[in-house]
Amino acid sequence: MLFPDFRARRLREKKNFRRMIRETKLSVDDLILPLFAVEGRKVKNPIKSMPGHFQLSCDLIAKKAREAWEIGIPAIILFGIPDKKDPLATKAYAKDGIVQKAVKEIKQKVPEIEVITDVCLCGYTDHGHCGVVDKGRIDNDASLDLLARTALSHANAGADMVAPSDMMDGRVGEIRQTLDEEGFSNIPIMSYAVKYSSALYGPFRQAAESAPQFGDRKTYQMDPANSLEAIREATMDVEEGADIIMVKPALSYLDIIYRLKEEIDLPIAAYNVSGEFSMIKACEKMGWIDGKAVMIETLLSMKRAGADIILTYFAMEAARELNK
Ligand code: PBG
Ligand code: ZN
Repeated sequence: MLFPDFRARRLREKKNFRRMIRETKLSVDDLILPLFAVEGRKVKNPIKSMPGHFQLSCDLIAKKAREAWEIGIPAIILFGIPDKKDPLATKAYAKDGIVQKAVKEIKQKVPEIEVITDVCLCGYTDHGHCGVVDKGRIDNDASLDLLARTALSHANAGADMVAPSDMMDGRVGEIRQTLDEEGFSNIPIMSYAVKYSSALYGPFRQAAESAPQFGDRKTYQMDPANSLEAIREATMDVEEGADIIMVKPALSYLDIIYRLKEEIDLPIAAYNVSGEFSMIKACEKMGWIDGKAVMIETLLSMKRAGADIILTYFAMEAARELNK
């Protein structure tokens, strides 16, 4: 049908008609809030690169989790900043590690909310890499056991789901096997399956104090130029037992989200990363954009592309907008 028989504007005329025919809906059900745990009590360190976000001690993180739950957010994802770093990331899998303590306190005070833990070594190694370093190289296979131990210690602390973000080959299978052997066959794995080596992680690395101290992450994270490789990575993790497949970052990789949604029959998560958050915040502060409107538009674009779940630093603000 062509103009003038068809007029695309007819159904745009009335607000309620627009509401009725809207194809994509953003919901608070889709959102996961990332939080950063530090040692101490009553500690609230502002993260300069991420306005409105803080490194929080366990007491305050539990309070934040309560707020998130009350506004309707179903889950949080935890990152830890340990008091000590060493070459083997000992504090990542210590019983009294910061994430383990945070999980315990949150599950005790806010049992209703699901607690997901980021499983990686970079925040806990003195060299800042996501795996074990041997003669300047990141040793894939030597890292697997430490990652599995980390995931297991999170599950032992009470985590509801684990999310490996290291990009070592084979880690999903290793974690699945360890969890199953230790009685945690019910704990799902959300794999950072398709994680690109992106400059958009900059603000996060300030927040988590996890920047690599030499080199970069290009030998384990993906090349932003590749999309067939995304299918291979996702397929590998599905075979190894992943329950949710994540694409990260989100905005510059909407084509990848779309493609994986077509190819993979598991829920797809998109990580709206720190750089994507901070760019919008900075522009808003300059008075150059309407921050709230851009927030909703970008989150919606991730859902439209095919994401079922969105990890976002906007979770609280978005939930407030969506509850209006
Ligand atoms: C650690 C990790 C990173 C992010 C999540 N887990 C950073 C990295 O790989 O350097 C990035 C999150 C963000 O930028 O919001 N493996
Ligand atoms: Zn890492």
